[in-house]
Amino acid sequence: MFSYAGRTTTPAAQPLQTRIGGFGGAKGLADTIRREGFSHVIDATHPFARQISRNSIAACAETQTPLVAFERAPWRAEPDDDWQHVSDVEAAVAALPVAPSRVFLAIGKQHLAPFAARPQHFYLLRLVDPPENPLPLRAAAIVIARGPFTAESDIALLRLHRITHVVAKNAGGEGARAKLSAARALGARVILIKRPPLPERRVVRSVAEVMLWLGQTARLGV
Ligand SMILES: NC(=O)c1ccc[n+]([C@@H]2O[C@H](COP(=O)([O-])OP(=O)(O)OC[C@H]3O[C@@H](n4cnc5c(N)ncnc54)[C@H](OP(=O)(O)O)[C@@H]3O)[C@@H](O)[C@H]2O)c1
Repeated sequence: MFSYAGRTTTPAAQPLQTRIGGFGGAKGLADTIRREGFSHVIDATHPFARQISRNSIAACAETQTPLVAFERAPWRAEPDDDWQHVSDVEAAVAALPVAPSRVFLAIGKQHLAPFAARPQHFYLLRLVDPPENPLPLRAAAIVIARGPFTAESDIALLRLHRITHVVAKNAGGEGARAKLSAARALGARVILIKRPPLPERRVVRSVAEVMLWLGQTARLGV
């Protein structure tokens, strides 16, 4: 079964039975695993989806269910990159300059409010769906788009909005890397939010490794 959190209105279709919504914390997830008889859990959430990952670790420990996290490797700076690594959204706000700047806020819609503390900046947002509520930001433009993106199109986007700073989460992977390539090409500064820490768990980097793990743990009858 495929489990979505329900953050986008039209999620991509999957060739598996799909459910949407939370389970009621780690306890609810453990109850679901037992009730439905799930033998394996694959945490394929975004590296910043901290709560569901914590819930998966706790629920799988409680029910003794094998768990694997499918997580992209974090991005690493190349020689021409101008990156500042920060620990969270609040630190990203603090890392912005005092002088009015033009910021591509590539962090989704959930954590925009802290940037209202720096109203002197122009903010460019890229969202999957149009926002349901008024934005907490005064000067902002919204682009509605779903990745993957190309370096060429992101260079054009950053040029169009005369972006000087890119704020992003270190999600890793290819589909969202384009904004970092564009920042490098245009000399924009990148403020990159580090991943939230999680308890230790088995992590793999590719679908092939997930499938291997699935086959091996099934064979061992773990
Ligand atoms: N955080 C990001 O930056 C980010 C960026 C891009 C995409 N996403 C995606 O957006 C979704 C939610 O991320 P988040 O950071 O808001 O989550 P989160 O803070 O880790 O979890 C919030 C709650 O959402 C429910 N939930 C999360 N993922 C679920 C899943 N796969 N199936 C069912 N319920 C789920 C759980 O509710 P209960 O406790 O009630 O079970 C969880 O406590 C994930 O699919 C993630 O991959 C997140």
